[in-house]
Amino acid sequence: MSTMKRNLKDQEHYLHSSWTIAKLITSFFLLVSISYLFYSLGFITHSHDCPPKKPYPLSTTTHVSNSTTAPPQPQHTAKPSEKTNISHIVFGIAASSRLWRQRKEYIKLWWRPNETRGIVWLDQEVKSEPGDETLLPTLRISSDVSKFKVKNPREELGVRISRIVSETVRLGMENVRWFVMGDDDTFFVTENLVKVLQKYDHKQFYYIGANSESHLQNIHFSYNMAYGGGGFAISYPLAVALERMQDQCLQRYPALFGSDDRIQACMAELGVPLTKEIGFHQFDVYGSVFGLLAAHPVIPLVSMHHLDVVEPIFPNVNRVEALQKLIGPMRLDSYGLMQQSICYDRARHWTVSVSWGYAVQIFRGIFLARDMEMPGRTFLNWIRRADYTGFPFNTRPFSRNACLKPFVFYLDNAIYDGVADETVSDYVRVQPNPDCRWKMPDPTQISMIRVYKKLDSHLWDKSPRRNCCRFRPTEEEGSMVIEVGECRKDEFAN
Ligand SMILES: *[C@@H]1O[C@H](CO)[C@@H](O)[C@H](O)[C@H]1NC(C)=O
Ligand SMILES: *[C@@H]1O[C@H](CO)[C@@H](O)[C@H](O)[C@H]1NC(C)=O
Ligand SMILES: *[C@@H]1O[C@H](CO)[C@@H](O)[C@H](O)[C@H]1NC(C)=O
Repeated sequence: MSTMKRNLKDQEHYLHSSWTIAKLITSFFLLVSISYLFYSLGFITHSHDCPPKKPYPLSTTTHVSNSTTAPPQPQHTAKPSEKTNISHIVFGIAASSRLWRQRKEYIKLWWRPNETRGIVWLDQEVKSEPGDETLLPTLRISSDVSKFKVKNPREELGVRISRIVSETVRLGMENVRWFVMGDDDTFFVTENLVKVLQKYDHKQFYYIGANSESHLQNIHFSYNMAYGGGGFAISYPLAVALERMQDQCLQRYPALFGSDDRIQACMAELGVPLTKEIGFHQFDVYGSVFGLLAAHPVIPLVSMHHLDVVEPIFPNVNRVEALQKLIGPMRLDSYGLMQQSICYDRARHWTVSVSWGYAVQIFRGIFLARDMEMPGRTFLNWIRRADYTGFPFNTRPFSRNACLKPFVFYLDNAIYDGVADETVSDYVRVQPNPDCRWKMPDPTQISMIRVYKKLDSHLWDKSPRRNCCRFRPTEEEGSMVIEVGECRKDEFAN
């Protein structure tokens, strides 16, 4: 449904956007120049007229209290049992009966029966097939929203979906710390979601999620908005506060577009800003998200959305099968999933980039880490006409030179070797590369890449740092063996 929603959005808004951009840019420069002028004037006057500041007292002894009882220390370390785990999260999944037969397959991929809790909220009854009951969340029908004011009748959908938060709160489930919203075409990596939410105090007000990959969408909607399909989390007390005011709040915004926009409007009234966690992926792009997944930021991968819009994430399989391939490495090492590492085969003059559990790329030539960590532009902007300026992050263009086309090896198999206590994942090439006449070692000779990686259960408890990769010698013809892990002392990508 969000597909429809977003498509409609671009048709509606793009018509005016070139004009809007020109106007925006002009106003922006005017604003900047005027503010600068005032600032400079202010600075000149103030720098002469201000009385000298009182010096900061050097001796603080007079302020030291002589109390014998130490002030209470805040408890920073939660006991293990108090840490947020999967049972504390309740999912509210927005679904449409029309697409249910196909979309439920995405949910089955990540849903963990008897572990994950949550409700799928539908617009009407759907036929249940054998097995559905045990593999899917409870289904419920959203309550009627016809009493809500909407400018466009289609926007009843937006009202219905935004009310999922309130409707889920009203079920009164126990031991809930977070409500996490998503669409029926959102894939969650639940362990990573838990890891991200553990950083925050669920007893306070938090609204956590991410923006769109489209700069124009973010301008048009809001950079303060969590895009609904990418999923977002609302802490329990905030969800309760929202539930108390949401229905009245919704009446104040009949002209908004979509559910996430309506949530944000009410969050703004509550004064709660978006806490950005960029592991939630809305994927407002067309084409292949390979570039984004092969250079994932150094944060846990939490979600992926618009799975029906983007190409399957692995070639030669359908969308559900493609995600299915990811389940293996996800179960083995979800913290490490899609984490990038970059290393160089100096002898052969190759740059190698690993996206653990997904793909390994070999490039002819030596490319700097700062370029390799930028997503390659395998995808198109949601608003098709916009180019790289349309993304709110840096992207790397694809060269037209056949020799610069990377050799992509996709995940074939991943296992855990209990003796060596490490994962072993194999990657193979399934797409041909064009001919290249460069007189240098040809990666075509490599048919399989094996990657060894130790688990690091504390990966996200440390300051973020990209893993390092290094080559292990191999006798085997046509294969490359790589080890991925925490960088050693003085080791870096060069
Ligand atoms: C501070 O406390 C210590 C004992 O705890 C006492 O001996 C001392 O006289 C106190 N000083 C002042 C300035 O009250
Ligand atoms: C989650 O934490 C609660 C304590 O808040 C504990 O009782 C429960 O066993 C934990 N569940 C899992 C699945 O770890
Ligand atoms: C879930 O729990 C129920 C009852 O405790 C059990 O009968 C069922 O087999 C469990 N399902 C799975 C998939 O583990």
